[in-house]
Amino acid sequence: MLSRRAFSSTLIGLLSACLAAAQAPAAHIRIDTGRVIGEVNPRVFGNFAEHLGRCIYGGIFDEGNPLSDADGYRKDVMEAVKPLGVSILRWPGGNFASGYNWTDGVGPRDQRPGRPDHAWGAFESNRFGTDEFLRYCERIGAEPYLCINAGLGTVDEARQWVEYCNETRPTYWAKQRARNGREKPWNVKVWGLGNEIDGPWQLGHKNAEDYAKFALSAAVAMRRQDDSIQLIASGSSNFRPNADWVGWNRTVLDHLKDEIDYISLHTYIGNPDNNFEKYLSVSQDLDDRIAIVQGQIRAARNGQTRPHPIYIAFDEWNTWYRARSGTTEFEIAKTGLEEHYNYEDALATGMFLNAFLRHADVVKMANLAQLVNVIAPIFTSKTGLYRQTIYFPLAEYGKQRGNTALDIQVTGPTYRVGNRPPLGYLDISSTYNAKDHVIYLNVLNRSEKMDIGARVDNVAGRIGGQAAVWEMNQSDLKAVNDFGSEKVKPATRSATLTLANNGFTYLFPKHSLTILRLNLE
Ligand code: AHR
Repeated sequence: MLSRRAFSSTLIGLLSACLAAAQAPAAHIRIDTGRVIGEVNPRVFGNFAEHLGRCIYGGIFDEGNPLSDADGYRKDVMEAVKPLGVSILRWPGGNFASGYNWTDGVGPRDQRPGRPDHAWGAFESNRFGTDEFLRYCERIGAEPYLCINAGLGTVDEARQWVEYCNETRPTYWAKQRARNGREKPWNVKVWGLGNEIDGPWQLGHKNAEDYAKFALSAAVAMRRQDDSIQLIASGSSNFRPNADWVGWNRTVLDHLKDEIDYISLHTYIGNPDNNFEKYLSVSQDLDDRIAIVQGQIRAARNGQTRPHPIYIAFDEWNTWYRARSGTTEFEIAKTGLEEHYNYEDALATGMFLNAFLRHADVVKMANLAQLVNVIAPIFTSKTGLYRQTIYFPLAEYGKQRGNTALDIQVTGPTYRVGNRPPLGYLDISSTYNAKDHVIYLNVLNRSEKMDIGARVDNVAGRIGGQAAVWEMNQSDLKAVNDFGSEKVKPATRSATLTLANNGFTYLFPKHSLTILRLNLE
């Protein structure tokens, strides 16, 4: 029989052994600043504003509201947008672009025509148009990205839009621009050759060949107007890389390979069956999809007569499934696409951004859909706003623009969804700021139940003993923010690392998103 003291010490021994076992690093992360994927292009932290629901009217632009300035821009929204560091802003759609005539939206506001918006079954006042949008971009420090009407529009309308924005000589549209208050050209560099033209829901929907012919004529005409512009072809909008998807992209790339600088991808995800780990497994699809298109680009580039790179513009991405009821776009529009994002959606945002950083060699632009109210990080009322859960990872990851994305090696516990290949519970990306000697380690632990300890080894350069920690971690996966209550937000702290052999062990809590900033001495 054990004495009380012996019993206690055995118990303590057992407990410590259990604790040690529980904390033994299950994962291994190896960082080598020499293993470079590519530059994290600042355009990866882009956004999108469409004439849809309350994104423009009642979001960005709210004439007569005491919260707006003399030009109609909501000042509180601009203040909330700035920390997001929106590098590039896409406009005017989306589906809206395929029925939009840009000439309706220039000139004196009171004389602009009201039009039916046949994309979303709405009324368009045209009080917010090209000059309002481009001025807004200047105010928030974002580069503009205009998407032409490749649905019901014409090639010449697209060419004339470039003339209106960029022409330096006293042509008809340059003079109109000056009369509308802007003498100096806006100098818009980035132009999209339409939106989701492969979708039957799109006004002016076309098959791949017809789209490619239209887009090629538009590209040539627009470049005749200004050959310094960069063009984005509309890639397939289907989510699964099935035969249609692969076929559309192949045709588009084949016809447009000498004209375009990017091909677009769109992805919306959701958690309709309330399965947290399945929801956060979509990175597998993102990685696959990007790699497939990268291969298609490579094949097309073989036949280029004007060799130049073509990149991926992931110009619509987000979680969108609750505010999506209905089978037609008109029915869906009744929801206003006003998603109320919860905690797990913030983790999904980290998952998307990790995928973009892991493919920083080819994903050179990404635009969250959208900026305000409509599937957005900022949510307004007439009297104020709040920041949704997804706001915070967007703002934090944005600090890694211009860094070098690193190809880190990761092993660790895995899981499977259906018959898909195993995937790691830890979803990771990493970047390096060579100027400041700082390594960023972005770690999503998508296990619902398991904290995961990881041994982190650094290969090139000596790692310092202090890390800055940014962490989102919430016990209620469904917690949401609201007006006056932003309870889902990150915590920051400084951590002392117990260094051994130029590495350390770190415990990544279950269902959390962590960014570690490590200093190289
Ligand atoms: O972002 C909402 C809509 O989703 C866009 O208008 C369209 O391009 C996509 O289907």
